[in-house]
This record gives sequence, C-alpha cells and structure tokens, in this order.
Amino acid sequence: MASAPALEHHVSLLPYNTFGIDAKARLFARFRSVEELRALLALPEVQQTEKLVLGGGSNLLFTQDFDGVVLKNEITGLEIIAQDEAQDTALVRAGAGESWHGLVQYALSQNLSGIENLSLIPGTVGAAPLQNIGAYGAELKDTFDHLEAVEISSGQLRTFTHEQCGFGYRESVFKGPLRNQYIVTGVVLQLRRKHQLNVSYGAISTTLADMGIETEPTPHDVSEAVIQIRRSKLPDPAQIGNAGSFFKNPEISQAKYDELKAQYADLPGYPVPGGVKVPAAWLIEQCGWKGRRFGAHGVHDRQALVLVNHGGAQGSAIRDLAHEIIASVREKFGVELHPEVNIL
Ligand code: EPU
Repeated sequence: MASAPALEHHVSLLPYNTFGIDAKARLFARFRSVEELRALLALPEVQQTEKLVLGGGSNLLFTQDFDGVVLKNEITGLEIIAQDEAQDTALVRAGAGESWHGLVQYALSQNLSGIENLSLIPGTVGAAPLQNIGAYGAELKDTFDHLEAVEISSGQLRTFTHEQCGFGYRESVFKGPLRNQYIVTGVVLQLRRKHQLNVSYGAISTTLADMGIETEPTPHDVSEAVIQIRRSKLPDPAQIGNAGSFFKNPEISQAKYDELKAQYADLPGYPVPGGVKVPAAWLIEQCGWKGRRFGAHGVHDRQALVLVNHGGAQGSAIRDLAHEIIASVREKFGVELHPEVNIL
C-alpha cells in the first residue's frame, strides 16, 4: 500500500474555492492516485471525521470553517483508451483531478467532439458527473460512458455505468442516495470523430456569424463561440468570486406557467416532461436583484443567477442573500428556487 500523503492542520481554503471564501479546514490532504486516496482513507484520523472531497471548488459555498478533513483530488491523466473500428467514436479517460476545460481542450486537439459546448466550465473532471454539468444545449450525460470511484467505507474501486449514475438536470445518485459515499477517481467519455455539432442553443449561431463563420463550423469554432458567450455574461472567478449559477432553473406545472404568463407576457419558458422550466435569472431580475451590491457581496450585473464575492465577503452573508432572494421570488411569483451550489 502507498504511504499516506501528509495531513496538514488548519489550512485556509481561500485558494481552493472559486467563491474566494476564507474558511479553514481542520485537516487537509491532497492525493494523486487511487493508492494515495486509499492510504488516506485508512488513517484513523480520517476515518473518524467528516470528509469533504474538493475538486476545483467551483460549486460550493463555505459558510463556516470545516471541522473535518478536506481531501483534494489531484489525480491526473488524459488518454484515448479505445477507438471503434470505423473510428467514428473514441473513449477518452480523464483523471478526476484534471481541469474540465483541460479535458475539452484535449478532446479538441484529438479532433474529438461532443463536449465543445461545455467549454470553460470551471471545476474538475471528477466533479462534472456529480451535478451532470450542462451548458448551451449539452450535458455531461450526453457523452458519458462510465466512471470509476472509490467507496469511502471500504476503499474499494468500482465502476458506475451511465444508468447507475442516475443523471438528471444538475443531478446524479452522488448528490442523492449515494451522497458522501464514493469519491470519483476517473471518468470515461465517448466522443465523436464524425461530428454532430449543436449550434442551436441561444447565441451560438449568431456568435459564430460574428466570428465570420457562416458554414460548417468545426468543434473548435463552437468552443470559441461558447467561450466568447460565457466571457460576456459570466464573471471570471479569478477576478470576482462566484460559483456560476447559484440556483437551479425551477420546473413548474403547465397550469402555473399559464397563470404567470397571463400576468407576465414576456416570461420565458422551455417545455420539459411534466411542465415548463423557467429561467431563475428572469424571476430574480424581475424582483430587482440584478446588479445589487451589499458591501462585499451581491448579484452579478450581467447574469442575475450568479451571486458574487467582490472580495472579503463572508459565506454566511452570501447564504443569507440567497435566502432573501428565494423569499422574494416565492412572494412575487409563488415559485420555489433551490440552490444549485453546495452550501457548507
Ligand atoms: N435572463 C434574465 N436575466 C438575466 C439572465 C438571463 O432574465 O440576468 C433570462 C433570459 O430570458 C434568458 C434566460 O434567462 O433567455 C436564460 O439565460 P441564460 O441562457 O444565460 O441561461 P440560464 O438559464 O440563466 C443556464 C445554466 C448555466 C449555463 C447557461 C447556458 C442553470 C442553473 N444554469 O443558465 O449554467 O451556462 O444556462 O446554457 O441551468 C452553472 O450551472 O453554473 C451555469 C452557469
């Protein structure tokens, strides 16, 4: 068995969360392989305390110090592990600690498509399946083949197929019934050499036209367009602390949607099985929150779904603001918003 990496005490998590919250971990360790992870999980100090696995720290909000052990996943590796005979598809394996955008760039460099619409999403490969990351008409589940994960209680490595992951909108079994039971160590995607690009969502096609690409865009072109759109709307965590969308877009019944639409003619809505998905950003903006600033924290001025830390904000203040926003949307529209970010 590999020897366990060093356990550090009272470590500031400021560099490890994109919200830029200065919380401390009682214990902290990094692991670079499944063996190192197993060795850590076998330590009594680790076994006896609460565990938090960190990837890029891009989907969580610390509202207090963390009294357990933070395990930072630094397992690397990007490789093509199989090609089909006709070479139409390839299986790409990525270590869970790789940056997600690094994987997108690797795929493009190998002329493989399927994840170009997910360009520039912050965070790591290992975190991507937990919430089935999605943007611009694509979700992780569309290209997902399987993942490898270590069971915390036994240290055993096991494989999860697509079906076993139970993917939904920003959901998986790892956020639900299997929460805090497994640590993802590797993800395998099935990507395409015969491209089927999706440029129908939002501003992708107009952005491509602005870039001078009118016909036959390449996966690289689509990636560039997505990067431009994201940069124009979403704050760069290196400059303004944030965790992307703070809330999920709520799904309401058709009857509820019709009732609201009669009152608010410009309410957007997208049909989903069993109802209509409405943009939380629209509801929040209508309640007057967009661009509001309260000292060090507030609501982003170009995307009302994003809460921001302008520098030095307390996580608890951001959580309290989120609760105020939820209450005001409930009062004005009778719609319940749910955080997408993990609040600790
Ligand atoms: N809108 C507003 N006000 C705003 C922003 C948007 O009214 O300030 C309305 C507009 O009507 C717009 C609609 O909301 O047409 C949708 O906006 P946008 O395309 O920006 O997407 P979103 O629904 O707000 C979702 C994802 C994002 C993802 C984008 C693009 C969720 C919770 N968020 O946001 O994901 O990048 O679509 O696909 O589903 C993330 O999860 O962290 C994230 C950034």
